[in-house]
Amino acid sequence: METKVLHITDEKDKAQIEEAARLLQEGELVIFPTETVYGLGADGLNEAAVDKIFQAKGRPKDNPLILHIADPEQVLDLVKVIPPKGKDCMDVFWPGPLTLIFERSEKVSDSITAGADTVAIRMPSHPIAHALLKAAAIPVAAPSANTSGRPSPTRLSHVLEDMDGKVPMIVDSGDTNVGIESTVLDVTVDPPMIYRPGGVTKEDLEAIIGEVAIDETTIDADNDAVPKSPGQKYRHYAPKGDGTLFAGDLKNIAKEINRRVAEAEPGKKTAVLCTTETKDLYEGMDLLVDMGSREHLEDVAHNLFDSLRRCDEEGVDVLFVEGFDFIGIGVGIMNRLLKACGGKVVLGL
Ligand code: TXA
Ligand code: MG
Repeated sequence: METKVLHITDEKDKAQIEEAARLLQEGELVIFPTETVYGLGADGLNEAAVDKIFQAKGRPKDNPLILHIADPEQVLDLVKVIPPKGKDCMDVFWPGPLTLIFERSEKVSDSITAGADTVAIRMPSHPIAHALLKAAAIPVAAPSANTSGRPSPTRLSHVLEDMDGKVPMIVDSGDTNVGIESTVLDVTVDPPMIYRPGGVTKEDLEAIIGEVAIDETTIDADNDAVPKSPGQKYRHYAPKGDGTLFAGDLKNIAKEINRRVAEAEPGKKTAVLCTTETKDLYEGMDLLVDMGSREHLEDVAHNLFDSLRRCDEEGVDVLFVEGFDFIGIGVGIMNRLLKACGGKVVLGL
């Protein structure tokens, strides 16, 4: 299939926005930018269209999808009730990188929810996403636009790597901003529970709705419980190489990583993923990736998936990755890195 790329930089570019919206209404796949990562969209009320998402991504059928909307009013049709804390989150964090889980209405099919009684909904803040969702005037189901298991795409080149020839249209609008996916928050339980840490932090949420719980499986490599969010049970965000995550004192981490680089099997390509503050501590690796400054963890989140994909581009076999504190957006970053390393982590250095 020929993939058409529309470059849209202005949400007032009516002709192109409407061209993409029309394709969605016709039941076709359209990849579009959001403030978190690129999404692989289809009409969320059209089962045949939704089915195409699973095929293009190679996504397991038991992993439910998020419905994207342009206007909070659209929620009314899709859910049974809006709990008060859910309403508060909608008022404060929408549009933005927060997905809310509600009890679903009859309108929402099993293909969206993977048979669950709940549905995930989010209202993106990206101006092009907003314009497209408004023009399409339907809830748009959209997972991240990567092949299942790979790092989520934050720019056109990532999308093309995974999806060129598999979808009729990609809307390109440059780099996404946040860089990791939305926070998934279940507001059907009390206290509300985070199923996937992301752009909106636990601290942000607690300032508005009080106590918030977090599904510990998302941040604890040793926890064998079944994750509440089906997507969290898969090895995910994974580069092709074999990754290990290191946590503790930064100087000790560097010493340990340098030792492992020196002892790496001859012929194996090694990469170190580190930060601006620590990059001079490393030696001997084939590729050094500065993910950004520890003073600006938003930058690290923004660069995260590109850093992992760069290792693939360079044919890296073994990745050594610096960890972060479980504070603020650091929680979301650590969740992605843990998954990317298949849970392989060295703690307490
Ligand atoms: O930022 C984002 O959320 C991006 C952009 C495109 O909006 N989308 C995204 O979708 O990350 P996806 O499908 O890659 O991740 C959705 C996550 C999965 O872990 C899925 O299991 C979970 O949300 N999820 C969806 N519906 C759920 C439900 N009813 N109950 C529990 N988890 C759910
Ligand atoms: Mg995803």
